[in-house]
Amino acid sequence: MLLNVDDYRRAARRRLPRGLFDLIDGGAGDEVTLRRNRTAFERIALRPRLLADASSRDLRTTVLGQPVSMPVLLDPTAHAHLIHSDGELGVARAAAGAGIVYALSTLSDVSLERLAAETTGPKWFQLYAPPDRAGVIAVLDRAQAAGYEALCVTVDVPVGGLRERARRSHMPLPPQLTPRLVAQAAMRPRWTIDFLAAKKRPGGVAVRSAPTRPAPSGSRFITEDDLALIRHRWPRPLLIKGVQRGDEVQRLIELGVDGLVVSNHGGRQLDGVAASIEILPEVVAAAAGRVEVFLDSGIRRGTDVVKALALGARAVLIGRPYLYGLAVGGEAGVVDVIETLRAELDNAMALLGLTAISELGLAAIQIPSGFGSRSDAGERLLT
Ligand SMILES: Cc1cc2nc3c(=O)[nH]c(=O)nc-3n(C[C@H](O)[C@H](O)[C@H](O)COP(=O)(O)O)c2cc1C
Repeated sequence: MLLNVDDYRRAARRRLPRGLFDLIDGGAGDEVTLRRNRTAFERIALRPRLLADASSRDLRTTVLGQPVSMPVLLDPTAHAHLIHSDGELGVARAAAGAGIVYALSTLSDVSLERLAAETTGPKWFQLYAPPDRAGVIAVLDRAQAAGYEALCVTVDVPVGGLRERARRSHMPLPPQLTPRLVAQAAMRPRWTIDFLAAKKRPGGVAVRSAPTRPAPSGSRFITEDDLALIRHRWPRPLLIKGVQRGDEVQRLIELGVDGLVVSNHGGRQLDGVAASIEILPEVVAAAAGRVEVFLDSGIRRGTDVVKALALGARAVLIGRPYLYGLAVGGEAGVVDVIETLRAELDNAMALLGLTAISELGLAAIQIPSGFGSRSDAGERLLT
């Protein structure tokens, strides 16, 4: 029975070749941060309100001025087209149907124009900086012309993390028919049939995907100059994804960003960093209401959404959870995961005695020691 995100994870493990599952599911190094993203949420306790009539609940909110049906958005992720032939288009359709934002990754297999033309619903475009200035300008102009509502610049992948679990089970990218992959695929016939059928379809999965990618994919360090150029060229809301310190927020705001995504890339980059949810309070404090703060990394339950919003996030994003859904049931699987989280969030609101997202605040939780204390201590030391 698929009752929650963890059930979808186990089902995805049974559906995907081992190397592909590990590529999605794994983190960097010893996976300390990957685990910490979960344990940190578990340390926060909820505090229900008594004698409140929460018989009807409204989960709607806005993100950067855009109405959404609930404060859960879909993170940008590479590899969707390898997981299921519905790929990024299926994910975007699921998000549109659910009334939430989908952020298309630079490393997608479908062109940003095709995705915008074939799917409705609010969309952000995620940027990994192309190697040169002309490339940055070209991709920004394409995303603007295609109607993407916001640009999300991911700054935490100047180089790839050391993803040892993925390396050990060795998924060649782009997939090549190595003996190991053939052996793994033979044990996963449903995935293999879907993958091979999609490969044959015109316009289906492009295994050698570089020419159709929304942007060149070279990772590099993003500098203040890059950000200034991006801000100059991109007239709509601009987000920075990968914020992990409150003391950098002021500079980001000065550079003109509109939103911050507190993220450690789901524990896939620098192993040993704190959980996003531990960092959130110091980022929210530094932002002081001037920009919207979002959070990802480790959201698996509706109660996690409640905890992040109580600590000041405008909304959360999910990565792996919807990829597990995609693996299990394509677009319909993504819909199921989104609706599971919506039902959990709604249930948590009812049991907390809350009727609207705007009512979520610090009163709803008990903050464990160590959360968000860093920047306060740092500021005291400096002054
Ligand atoms: C398979 C996979 C691919 C990803 N690809 C990208 C990407 O292309 N761009 C990006 O900004 N983040 C990427 N991420 C990071 C996610 O956007 C997000 O930060 C992370 O998955 C959140 O943690 P969660 O998986 O615990 O929800 C990827 C994550 C996964 C699991």
